[in-house]
Amino acid sequence: MTMDQTFPAIADLKARARRRIPHFVWEYLDSATGTEATPRRNRAALDAVLFRPSVLHGEFTPDLGTTMMGRKYPLPFGIAPLGMSGLIWPGAEQMLARLGAERGIPYTLSTVATQLPEDVGPHAGDQGWFQLYPPRDPVIRADMLARAKASGFHTLVLTVDVPVASRRERQTRGGLKQPPRLTPRLMWQAAQCPAWLMGIRRTGMPRLRLMEGYSTHTGTTASNEHVGYMLRTSPDWTYLDELRAAWDGKLVVKGVLDPADVPRLETAGADAIWVSNHAGRQFDGAPASVTVLPAIRAATALPVLFDSGIEGGLDVMRALALGADFVMLGRAFHYGLGAAGAKGAGHVVDILRADMVSNMGQIGARRLSDLKDRLL
Ligand SMILES: Cc1cc2nc3c(=O)[nH]c(=O)nc-3n(C[C@H](O)[C@H](O)[C@H](O)COP(=O)(O)O)c2cc1C
Repeated sequence: MTMDQTFPAIADLKARARRRIPHFVWEYLDSATGTEATPRRNRAALDAVLFRPSVLHGEFTPDLGTTMMGRKYPLPFGIAPLGMSGLIWPGAEQMLARLGAERGIPYTLSTVATQLPEDVGPHAGDQGWFQLYPPRDPVIRADMLARAKASGFHTLVLTVDVPVASRRERQTRGGLKQPPRLTPRLMWQAAQCPAWLMGIRRTGMPRLRLMEGYSTHTGTTASNEHVGYMLRTSPDWTYLDELRAAWDGKLVVKGVLDPADVPRLETAGADAIWVSNHAGRQFDGAPASVTVLPAIRAATALPVLFDSGIEGGLDVMRALALGADFVMLGRAFHYGLGAAGAKGAGHVVDILRADMVSNMGQIGARRLSDLKDRLL
């Protein structure tokens, strides 16, 4: 059986991953907040974006290449940051960084990853982006930026949609604590997932290594509350100005949903705007990201990135047609890892590409810039 026969869609990877990842970790990966209406809203809004099928347009192979922030990409999608990635699948950060380098697509490392920028950056080659949950202490911030840069991360992503901790009720019910501890109940769940457990034996229990280093600096352990304190999750406009002055690479602002914020982001010197509702993990009253995308596109000439609930190549096309320049996926790559390790994550790229080739054939779109003209 080929990977494509076993896992024709990302949904197949998800179903397999669910059986191979311990329940408490799955609840961390898969949950949103509140009644989880926002992820449903993302799905419904994506499904509502339709194209006009095309007939008698002859044979062609669509060109999926694009240019963004001055770089050429063979495919219009990349890997979004997930905190504690190495808990979801042991070794995830390095595996995904290597995938980015191999396929020529960006990989974003989270501030709250389980591996250090120094240990991940070299694997990402020229594709490393670093996501910042903004440290309060300017000394820590300067050090983090310098380390990210020295490790090869050339693009900084400031996440702004976590102004307060969200409740994530399902995750709480699941029992994951920070730092993760295997209570007898969680140990029992882990025992059902031997591949995951073997990986964890190899990597050690995942910890927020980067934050832990700074935590020694202040003499406390990296508990959730402490990491929450060290990272000023609710930065303000002054913080963005300071960050702009401190970072000479590309700066992307992630988690924008309101076109009214765009002019100010432009003035502050953002190089790109990342439309996202964090997959409904932060606020259950948020609009579907794809619903606000056209207004944000209309408000700026900057590159627009998009994420939130992309489940296949057709969804990538929908976001591009509505004005995104590039699409990022977070969970899908982790479903791939959970289902079949690094090979599974690579298969996500193959599924997305195959989906796009097939669906662009259906609508007669030869290149990505044709997509908007085929919208119904
Ligand atoms: C388990 C999990 C952890 C995440 N951690 C981060 C993070 O550390 N930093 C960040 O900017 N976004 C984080 N996100 C949000 C993702 O980057 C992305 O915006 C979101 O998952 C939507 O994309 P998706 O539907 O393709 O997963 C996280 C999402 C998930 C599911």
